[in-house]
Amino acid sequence: MQIYKYFATSLTFITLVSVNLFAATLPIPPLAPYTMVNGVKTFNMNIRQSTTQFFSGVNTRTYGINRNVLGQTIRIHDGDRVKINYTNSLSEATTMHGHGMHVPAIMDGGPKNKIQPGQRWTASYTVNQPASTNWYHPHLMGTTARHVYMGLAGMIIVDDDNSDTLALPKTYGVDDIPLIIQDKRFTSSRQIHYAPNRMEIMRGYTSRTMMINGSISPTVYVKDKQIRFRVLNASNSSLYNLRFSDGRAFKQIATDGGFLEKPVNLSSLLLSPGERAEIVVNFSGDLGSTVTLRETRNNINIMTVNVNRTSTGVTSVPSTLKKLEKYRASDAVRTRNFLLNTVGGGMMGQMAINGRAFNLSRIDNVVPVNDIEIWNIRNTMNLEHNFHIHAIHFMILERNGSTARVAANEKGYKDVVRIPPNSSVKVIIKMKDYIDPNNGYMYHCHFLEHEDDGMMGQFTVIQNKNNPVTQWAPIMMDSITTMVPSPLPLGSTTY
Ligand code: C2O
Ligand code: CU
Ligand code: CU
Repeated sequence: MQIYKYFATSLTFITLVSVNLFAATLPIPPLAPYTMVNGVKTFNMNIRQSTTQFFSGVNTRTYGINRNVLGQTIRIHDGDRVKINYTNSLSEATTMHGHGMHVPAIMDGGPKNKIQPGQRWTASYTVNQPASTNWYHPHLMGTTARHVYMGLAGMIIVDDDNSDTLALPKTYGVDDIPLIIQDKRFTSSRQIHYAPNRMEIMRGYTSRTMMINGSISPTVYVKDKQIRFRVLNASNSSLYNLRFSDGRAFKQIATDGGFLEKPVNLSSLLLSPGERAEIVVNFSGDLGSTVTLRETRNNINIMTVNVNRTSTGVTSVPSTLKKLEKYRASDAVRTRNFLLNTVGGGMMGQMAINGRAFNLSRIDNVVPVNDIEIWNIRNTMNLEHNFHIHAIHFMILERNGSTARVAANEKGYKDVVRIPPNSSVKVIIKMKDYIDPNNGYMYHCHFLEHEDDGMMGQFTVIQNKNNPVTQWAPIMMDSITTMVPSPLPLGSTTY
């Protein structure tokens, strides 16, 4: 059935768009194929330009990885040796970062790991982290936001022995379903429109045209049982608050860094850009009905769930998922402060951390391996921000000075934390391996317009004279074992 609907974008275009409302089936990004080469899982990922029909009959230019838009899902297991070959078939340079991946700095795919058009860059490492939902996306300074907006984002699912044995829905695309949520603006000819002005860089480049897995208002067909969704906010700068139309409760089982200790009951889920959550929703007893997934900040129906098949055996969600290692604030050897504001503090100034905009040739912090540290992040602006740290997963200690303000579903390992306007968050971290004084990891606001504008810094991990690392994590390169003092200028003196 062809239905006409008005889409109002904040471009102030009002365009009459013909869409098959709720007719599209939710696309599932296929699992990326791999070959075993001398015991190494080898993936070939082609970053390319193509077109996608977001609106029926209209070809919209998009970027994708082995696909027209978005990327295939890379699925790997803790302990796997992997090589991910990224070939850049675009006509411009990019990079490919494994967000949430605990890997050596030179394998991180940050702004330094530039892939020129026609070139290939390989992330090669031994998977060294618990089961979790992660993602990959470009990270070239100044173009990250546009590249993600054009469609460059894909999931990386990490499995481990614990996730293999837990009685959870785990059939990819059937009862374990990825949901990559984004919003996009389109021109009147329905091409992706990415051109933020200064105000939009500050306030966020957002749109009411939302899509899941690259599809506007899709329907997902499920069985009448427990269904797991791996939710990723892959938007540039939108907070999403998700809720079902009937207000039903669901359980969050995992956050950015993997499983929570126990499932947390929720009726709505708030995610800022870059954050992930795995949730399990019970559809038993719902055969023949539909329920809508809504984004409640903007009141948009984003997906219909149609329960159209019956299943034998209903699984229940295990009451304990994992024992998490926790560090106490009293064990921290130092606190670092990160102020999210502009250079000079003006309302419309360039975005910065501690007054400095990002500089690829400056290391801002040197983190001794094995030290427990508190990172105190303050947002003194009247704007939403968040904070993402590469390679390290942290726990949230406090919000606005209070441990009680940390929500139950935030009490797992995280790599992105929401920092609402005029608030502060303390996180506790410990980096256990991957010493490399010459190559930095990024930390930044994951509102991509803020990141591209300069709200990003760099840290290196160095040997610790009090607590040296003797046990190297299994890694596949040799360059990492050279330990020399950092030759890069230090932006701040913290150690
Ligand atoms: Cu999602 Cu620095 O990255
Ligand atoms: Cu990242
Ligand atoms: Cu920000």
